[in-house]
Amino acid sequence: MNTTLRENIDWVGHVDWNVRDFHGYNTDRGATYNAYLVRDAKTALVDTVKGPFAGRLLARVAALVDLSRVDYVVSNHAEPDHAGALPEVMQALPNATLVADAKCLAALAGHFDTSGWKTRTIADGETLSLGRRTLRFIETPMVHWPESMFTYVAEERLLFSMDAFGQHYASSGRFDDEVPVATILDEAKTYYANIVMPYGKQVARVLQQTANLPIDMIAPAHGVIWRSHVPAILRAYADWSVCRRAAKVVVIYDTMWGSTGEMAEAIHEGASRPGVEAVLLNIRRSNLTRLATEMLDAATVAFGSPTLNGGMMPMAAAVLAYLKGLRPVGKAGFAFGSYGWGVGGPEAISEHLAAMKWEIPREPLKARYRPTAEVLAEKARQMAG
Ligand code: FEO
Repeated sequence: MNTTLRENIDWVGHVDWNVRDFHGYNTDRGATYNAYLVRDAKTALVDTVKGPFAGRLLARVAALVDLSRVDYVVSNHAEPDHAGALPEVMQALPNATLVADAKCLAALAGHFDTSGWKTRTIADGETLSLGRRTLRFIETPMVHWPESMFTYVAEERLLFSMDAFGQHYASSGRFDDEVPVATILDEAKTYYANIVMPYGKQVARVLQQTANLPIDMIAPAHGVIWRSHVPAILRAYADWSVCRRAAKVVVIYDTMWGSTGEMAEAIHEGASRPGVEAVLLNIRRSNLTRLATEMLDAATVAFGSPTLNGGMMPMAAAVLAYLKGLRPVGKAGFAFGSYGWGVGGPEAISEHLAAMKWEIPREPLKARYRPTAEVLAEKARQMAG
């Protein structure tokens, strides 16, 4: 497995093939926690890995350099999937100084006993010479946590981008040209939708900040390293940061006895036409991770639930709570659903969509008990129109 990015710059992370739940995120293709070793007159380890894999990281570092010769450990991000190994790493590297910004050091002290660590606080834009190469630190607050930052190596046109541009994707190839590009772009989209979407404004600012940096390689903290498709991932992030709408309708629904399901299919059929991607998702056959990903670039979301106890079905409410937290902007959405003697399901959905500041192009589409063929045809016509 090729793990060399540039001469004396190597990947030393861990591939977690079997993880399937990353704090609720469905990691169907596993994950990686990327760390990088830069060997120069001074040696720096950039980021670490999840705590249980500290030994694997240290073994990779020890295969390249005597552990006593590591001078710096750069922490770009304090979240435990990257900093969890720090206590073991700092103990194993007797001459290493932890390099991080003030917010990161405070966050690390909130997670670990850092009192015995040598630390160096750096500020936005500060540099650290390793000899032939120099590390430049670029603060990127809220991409993904307040203390997050990038580390840039100008001599190599190389950006260590932490969570940004990452993917939860386990693979034997370490680079974007060693795996199917459509797959990694889809995983990058899934990652963006579920981890980064709430911070679109901050992402747009970061993209502006880095626009003038010559970048030939982006080495994120998850997934493969971008070297052959850098423009593609930068373009994708520019689109995702504003939730750019494609010609796409996503129909999301729960159903009790099939009536709302029939309405969902009619709406989906009405939305399906050349040039429009129409996606039909039963909440109980999908998962939050996939639903959020499909929503990211949708122009319109039709969301359905029958009425249960004067409101919507509980799993529909859970999905809306999740989607709302991701703060998707610029969507149109409307509710639909069947009802019996009471009302409230579609109406409650409509309120949630309005609370997300989405455009609501129509009143909820409703059917009493089972929708008749005429009602279904009318729903399809309304969508087609
Ligand atoms: Fe991969 Fe925000 O940690």
